[in-house]
Amino acid sequence: MYNKRRNNIFKTMNDNSAMLLFSGNERKMSADASYPFYVNNNFYYLTGINQSEVALLLIKGKHSKITYLFLDETSELEAKWNGSGLTYSEASKISGVDIKYLKPYKEFENILSTYFIPSRRNQIGVIDTLFLDLERDSFEDEKQISHHFAERVLSHYYNIDIKDCFDSIALLRMIKDDHEIELTKKAIAITKEGINALMKKAKPGINEYNLEAEFNYVLDNNNVKPSFDTIAAAGKNATVLHYVSNDTMINDNELILFDLGVRYQQYCSDISRTFPVNGKFTKRQKEIYEIVLNCNKKTIEWLHPGVSFQEFLDYGRNLLIEGCKKIGLIKEDDEINKYYYHGLGHFLGLDVHDVGYYSNRFESGIIITVEPGLYIEEEGIGIRIEDDILITDNGCINLSKDIIKEVDEIEAFMKK
Ligand code: GLY
Ligand code: MN
Ligand code: MN
Repeated sequence: MYNKRRNNIFKTMNDNSAMLLFSGNERKMSADASYPFYVNNNFYYLTGINQSEVALLLIKGKHSKITYLFLDETSELEAKWNGSGLTYSEASKISGVDIKYLKPYKEFENILSTYFIPSRRNQIGVIDTLFLDLERDSFEDEKQISHHFAERVLSHYYNIDIKDCFDSIALLRMIKDDHEIELTKKAIAITKEGINALMKKAKPGINEYNLEAEFNYVLDNNNVKPSFDTIAAAGKNATVLHYVSNDTMINDNELILFDLGVRYQQYCSDISRTFPVNGKFTKRQKEIYEIVLNCNKKTIEWLHPGVSFQEFLDYGRNLLIEGCKKIGLIKEDDEINKYYYHGLGHFLGLDVHDVGYYSNRFESGIIITVEPGLYIEEEGIGIRIEDDILITDNGCINLSKDIIKEVDEIEAFMKK
């Protein structure tokens, strides 16, 4: 599988070029403690390896390709302190890289530079282009290993052309293969289990974090972690989109909004559900909930390949406008901005807000969330219903269709 993905990326490279990707380093927190390691997803996508200080080097000549993997096997002493990392044989088995091309981590510079120097006369020929993952979100972004390495190469080898490969990997990552779809389904199945568990424990007077804890308990028992900070927001808290403090007592007659997910073998789910903490919607809550639910369901019924992102956004927004006009909440279309102030969805995959091109029309194989919401601060009502949708050749499949969301089903479930 990883060989196949690397072959696809090789096709995007010109002859006489190299691509170097880093898994990343552990980041120091303080004293001798580090933040949890988070692997570079582009590196992971092409290797399946989730370990710090590993590098992948692809070399493409006119007539041949070579793939190197650089990592250090753990020493006996280090293993006694921290346990052992991958052996060469394990790393080769996971990634599909031929074991004879596994080398110590520190050697990536030396080996790569042999391809820069004509007189070394390696069999491939001279590399004149180096692809690195140079993604930046803004000028202020901290430099990553790749940025430092780009500077180092340019200060030593003046004839090397450095190019960013982020886009070409993102384009491949947009279209999910069967393996990725299976992992996403597993993440969703555990999310469902977690949502059912927290709904069972919901009752007035309980704290938001108590319900988050029920979700986390299910995740711990499945040996997985949340894919992002869980939002457990009752009443008015739910009108704050990124509310994550989750430390408010939930009153009778309040709704609680959960936006949560699971990371399963690196693949994310991202689900939102909203329900009454006492198990019964008030008339008003139901009225607003049905508008959001109708938008969620109608959008999912309609989604298909060929839709543009703007059409997708408009489709959902118009359904919300229509619903809010019908109950007299708004008169003019633009008034919806007061009650609906986020996008309708985003790509999902190795990242929760996954890489991909919002300017491309939807294609079979993308996974996108559908997450309409309405937030009426003055009434203490915040509702979002979010599902994870796979676009197929003929339409789409709601991967999270089994997670409870109909009013009568929620009320029946909570009554039990
Ligand atoms: N949980 C963040 C989002 O739904 O996009
Ligand atoms: Mn979400
Ligand atoms: Mn989302």
